[in-house]
Amino acid sequence: MTIPKFKTFRIEAYKPGKSDIRKIQNPIKLSANESALGVSPRALKVLQSKDFLMSKYPDSKASNLRKEIAKKYKCDLDKIICGAGSDEIIQMICQLYLKPSDEVVVPQYSFLMYRIYAQIVGAKVVFSKEKNFKVSISEILKKITKKTKLVFIANPNNPTGTYLGKSELIELRKKLNKNILLVLDDAYFEYMKNEDYKSGLELFKNKDNVVVIRTFSKIYGLASLRVGWGHAPKKIINAMNLIKPPFNVNQIAQLAAVESLKDKSFINRSIKHNIIFANKIKKFLEKFKIFSSDVTANFLLLNFDKCKYSANYVFNMLQLKGIILRSTEDGYKIKNKLRLTIGSKTQNDKFIKAIIDIFN
Ligand SMILES: Cc1ncc(COP(=O)(O)O)c(C=O)c1O
Repeated sequence: MTIPKFKTFRIEAYKPGKSDIRKIQNPIKLSANESALGVSPRALKVLQSKDFLMSKYPDSKASNLRKEIAKKYKCDLDKIICGAGSDEIIQMICQLYLKPSDEVVVPQYSFLMYRIYAQIVGAKVVFSKEKNFKVSISEILKKITKKTKLVFIANPNNPTGTYLGKSELIELRKKLNKNILLVLDDAYFEYMKNEDYKSGLELFKNKDNVVVIRTFSKIYGLASLRVGWGHAPKKIINAMNLIKPPFNVNQIAQLAAVESLKDKSFINRSIKHNIIFANKIKKFLEKFKIFSSDVTANFLLLNFDKCKYSANYVFNMLQLKGIILRSTEDGYKIKNKLRLTIGSKTQNDKFIKAIIDIFN
């Protein structure tokens, strides 16, 4: 039987962090960089108390949410667009900027959705080498051609956890041709307490060739509600609004996002929790010669090169104990490493105990 012909894409589909294990009920999922402390109590309270008008379409402009974002981050409401996850912002940027002959530069080990959305619209993805799993400005510059339209960088980067400092980001923007759009993904910026770090938004709020992406899926704990946003010059935002699906962010997500933005004590608790446990786990794992780079976001990239067991072996043994980490082999193509999300206290304690069992 013949069916109408669809386009074929030469892409490797995104594989989300695994969330289940056969025969194990309620496994501990430390594979998707989700919030260790769940949803903010303030957001939960309003979600539980409100009667939602589910038969009505949501506010297509997410006006209230954009207003709160603008207030909190001291930026212009008209320079903000909301998406069904920051994922959708990445997709819109690719749709808006790229034609088949165009090129996009992404660091070798960067977040997978940049390359996927760029390839879907037919652009060529060019990978820049990293140095010690850190984004390299000189390697990015080497890959720039007349066809380069976009450069994507997550800062800090997923899955490596490394970051470019303030001066490095400024240097990159200066050295990139002005007509190349720099897309800076601030997904994990709230966790960053490193001295030389500045978020993309703080640095480039007034630049006309930088788009900054942010999400409510990480520290705000709203991954399932799908809400993120982008900050860009008005001209770019207006163009994105033309291609944005009209009701892309649902009403419940908009409301929960507004409440969680206001929940300062939850955010502070989450940051503190992350720093304490990330440092504790990093140090603990070093006893078993499992090393990771400096603590940055809410995950660690664990290196098993000096360890007596391989990453695969530890991954499988942890799974038998009901604990799921993120393998970095498929998609990211990083060998002998695992990405570990910092979990709740109970989850972290169970992870620590499981490691002790495996190594004994
Ligand atoms: C760097 C980075 N950007 C964007 C996203 C996507 O987040 P969202 O849930 O907002 O689509 C992720 C999710 O893991 C990420 O790590």
